[in-house]
Amino acid sequence: MNRLRTAILISGRGSNMRAILEAANATDYPAEAVLVLSNRPEAEGLSHADRHGIATAAVDHKPFGNDREAFERAMQVVLEQHRIEMIVLAGFMRILTPWFVAKWSGRMINIHPSLLPKYPGLNTHQRAIDAGDAEAGCSVHWVTEGVDQGGVIAQARVPIRPDDTSETLAQRILPEEHKLYPKAVRLAALEIMQRSQPAI
Ligand code: GAR
Repeated sequence: MNRLRTAILISGRGSNMRAILEAANATDYPAEAVLVLSNRPEAEGLSHADRHGIATAAVDHKPFGNDREAFERAMQVVLEQHRIEMIVLAGFMRILTPWFVAKWSGRMINIHPSLLPKYPGLNTHQRAIDAGDAEAGCSVHWVTEGVDQGGVIAQARVPIRPDDTSETLAQRILPEEHKLYPKAVRLAALEIMQRSQPAI
């Protein structure tokens, strides 16, 4: 089976990355995880990926200061070295420039802990609680120029309880992310492969 060479980009813990690596162990999974890349060399997820036998790389954003595109060009070199065909952002906490987004248009997805289009950006859990919402959740979406604005691929919902804090709500959503993201990666990979098939 043809599988897309996939990079998972992380900034920290990497629990979503773990869920995807587990799913990608199956040989009939359409995404093959070949690289885990972090903008933080100390990201916990890197050592897990390493133990899992996946190539890892760190491109520290700090030396690039405010030059986001220079940082991304350094990432792009690594992505090309590994012949990456799809990018999965999993807790990657850098805003991407139009240059990078255009380069990976239709081939890069992200998970966000809200029911998009509600609450793009930061502090999503607290914002859902403050708004008095009855439910919250997570969304996997295509990455486009506007932060968390791209087309939604899949969502999962959880109730918000009256005594919830942002921490308890995040704890309730996270296991749903771990179930949702591997399914959404599969859908996205299949869609990308279908798109790149020549018309008959
Ligand atoms: C996840 O909850 C993910 O949805 C969120 O960061 C966490 C990363 O956890 N992403 C964002 O907020 C992106 N805007 P993980 O490193 O354990 O996967």
